[in-house]
Amino acid sequence: MTSPETPSDQRLDSQSPVAGRAILVGVSGGVAAYKAAQFVSKLAQQGANVSVVMTAAAEKFIQPATLAALSGKSVTHSLFDPRFPLGAHIELARQAELLCVTPATADILAKFAHGLADDLLSTLYLCATCPVVVAPAMNVEMWQKPAVQRNIAQLREDGVQIVGPEEGWLSCRTRGAGRLVEPEKLLLHVNELFASRPPSPN
Ligand SMILES: Cc1cc2nc3c(=O)[nH]c(=O)nc-3n(C[C@H](O)[C@H](O)[C@H](O)COP(=O)(O)O)c2cc1C
Repeated sequence: MTSPETPSDQRLDSQSPVAGRAILVGVSGGVAAYKAAQFVSKLAQQGANVSVVMTAAAEKFIQPATLAALSGKSVTHSLFDPRFPLGAHIELARQAELLCVTPATADILAKFAHGLADDLLSTLYLCATCPVVVAPAMNVEMWQKPAVQRNIAQLREDGVQIVGPEEGWLSCRTRGAGRLVEPEKLLLHVNELFASRPPSPN
């Protein structure tokens, strides 16, 4: 058993490439939003400095309290948050070494691809200078829609890393492409990304 004197950081995996790295996890409103909780927990266990931004639709699927507890920080969802006098989109984007959106809805992908900025996550994306990873998840018909595929192609061209989706069971009770990658696979991708980008010495 860990003694009460043990600093909590000693229980974290400080050898992980994500340890100490500032990772902003964006959660948009799909059924797979519950899997963001596992992803955030795994990042925290590997010692990452995780902050979470949720869209209004994401909060219909998973409570911010869960992600706040797992990340150890309040979740941000409003552009107009008094904790960020310069604007949450600017302050959070400046701190981030990675923006990782999981799940990424068809809607948030379209906003990113077209430069819309009508909520915190989409505005933050426009301010972000760090790498951006998105993990799309949606119904197979949505995923196959030419408009969605055009947006994905545009995001690739813009340098966004797209992880998944995979084929498998979908919550609309069919099988097909559109299933969110498992949190372990996304974590592996993020670890590889940081392993190739060591922290800059300052
Ligand atoms: C039950 C239910 C499940 C949904 N699942 C998805 C989904 O998996 N992927 C998706 O792109 N949209 C899904 N949607 C639609 C989004 O919630 C909707 O497009 C919303 O505007 C997304 O907002 P956001 O991108 O700001 O989070 C779902 C809607 C409902 C009611």
